[in-house]
Amino acid sequence: MSTPHINAEKNQIAKVVLMPGDPLRAKYIADTFLTNVTQFNSVRNMFGYTGFYKGRRISVMGSGMGMPSIGIYSYELYKFFDVETIIRIGSCGAYTEELNLYDTILVTEAYSESTFALAQGKCINDTLKASDSINAKLDKIAKSINIPLVKGKIHSSDVFYREFPEEVMNLAKEKHLLGVEMESFALFHNANVTKKNAACLLTVSDSLVTHESTTAEERQTAFTNMMKIALEMAE
Ligand code: HPA
Repeated sequence: MSTPHINAEKNQIAKVVLMPGDPLRAKYIADTFLTNVTQFNSVRNMFGYTGFYKGRRISVMGSGMGMPSIGIYSYELYKFFDVETIIRIGSCGAYTEELNLYDTILVTEAYSESTFALAQGKCINDTLKASDSINAKLDKIAKSINIPLVKGKIHSSDVFYREFPEEVMNLAKEKHLLGVEMESFALFHNANVTKKNAACLLTVSDSLVTHESTTAEERQTAFTNMMKIALEMAE
């Protein structure tokens, strides 16, 4: 079985796939946390690995940045590789002073101005929900390993560099958005149309309020809280 973007056999990919944006973070997670690792994808260097966490099988693969990119990979995983659950593990910018760098967010809903869901499946909603059952599991896991979670709605934006960045803060207030990333809305939509499950954990990597930020290196290594929660979803 091979799709335009994933060159693998179905049985090489686990039912649960964790998706960081960066394929090198996928490699880092596989190298650091998994045993008996096999690599199932290297097309376009969008590395994907399957291994075992505490003896349970799980896969991890990069999604790339933005909704078109995660839209392609998540659709192929759900539709052609029988993946049941995708958990995005990403970073976000904080829209509120109440969030601190490295806080972990469990996304309940993603708001977006994107036309992704409309173009893909005539879905007219601007807000899409994560899977309730997966969120309940992630919440329970986080409690059991004493990692605090902030739960709420985030902004899936098509634009990183805005010409009028101050205007997005009005949107954040109006829609009650905790922070901004660029992928969840498309992932949640693809889960809906393929009748599969999706969730998203985010670590705050920068603040659009205080303008603090983390380095790319810190981003790669310091997000262990989020990864520990997500890895417990291995089956
Ligand atoms: N904007 C969009 N996506 C992001 C950001 C941001 O500021 N930080 C991390 N992901």
